[in-house]
Amino acid sequence: MIDLLRKRRSVRAYLNQTIEPEKVSILKEALLRSPSSRDIQPWMFIFVEDEKMLSHLSRVKVHGSAFLAGAQMVIVVLGDEAASDVWIEDCSIAAVVAMLTASSLGLGSCWVQVRNRQHSPSESAEDYVRKALNIPDNFRVEAMIALGYPDEEKAGIPLDELRFDKIKTGTFAG
Ligand SMILES: Cc1cc2nc3c(=O)[nH]c(=O)nc-3n(C[C@H](O)[C@H](O)[C@H](O)COP(=O)(O)O)c2cc1C
Repeated sequence: MIDLLRKRRSVRAYLNQTIEPEKVSILKEALLRSPSSRDIQPWMFIFVEDEKMLSHLSRVKVHGSAFLAGAQMVIVVLGDEAASDVWIEDCSIAAVVAMLTASSLGLGSCWVQVRNRQHSPSESAEDYVRKALNIPDNFRVEAMIALGYPDEEKAGIPLDELRFDKIKTGTFAG
């Protein structure tokens, strides 16, 4: 795991290479093996591969989503806020588990934030995605995870560049 984490970076450029069905199955399994509060599993995941839909979803925001158009697949992460008051935590953990599993399979991935973002001044990014994929109103749209074989090489962050000042020992003053 630590080797995977040492190499992990967000990947936003992808090869035109299909993700094998066996790998897609493993990603689905990984999502469903994630921990969730009281095991409620308040999530739903939509796997999207259709090129036209990926292109439509890439326009969800003005910034930070255009690269979705070149992805092989996106996992849309939904949460039922009526089912759990910690749906955001649960869904985020599942999304990160999927991203790390993707890395272990040689795939690149990148989180695209949807919740709390706007598509335009009059439409939220959530509503844009909801309309595109016929998502019922009781589900919130947290994020989309873009996936594909990497078409960019990024070095892992060197150990001496990690923000160890973010870690305290014993007490906050420690
Ligand atoms: C909650 C969250 C939201 C993010 N939203 C976006 C996004 O909308 N678009 C994007 O290109 N990257 C997004 N990212 C990726 C971050 O920009 C990236 O993880 C960060 O710059 C660190 O780079 P690294 O993942 O390569 O270490 C998001 C990451 C997280 C955890």
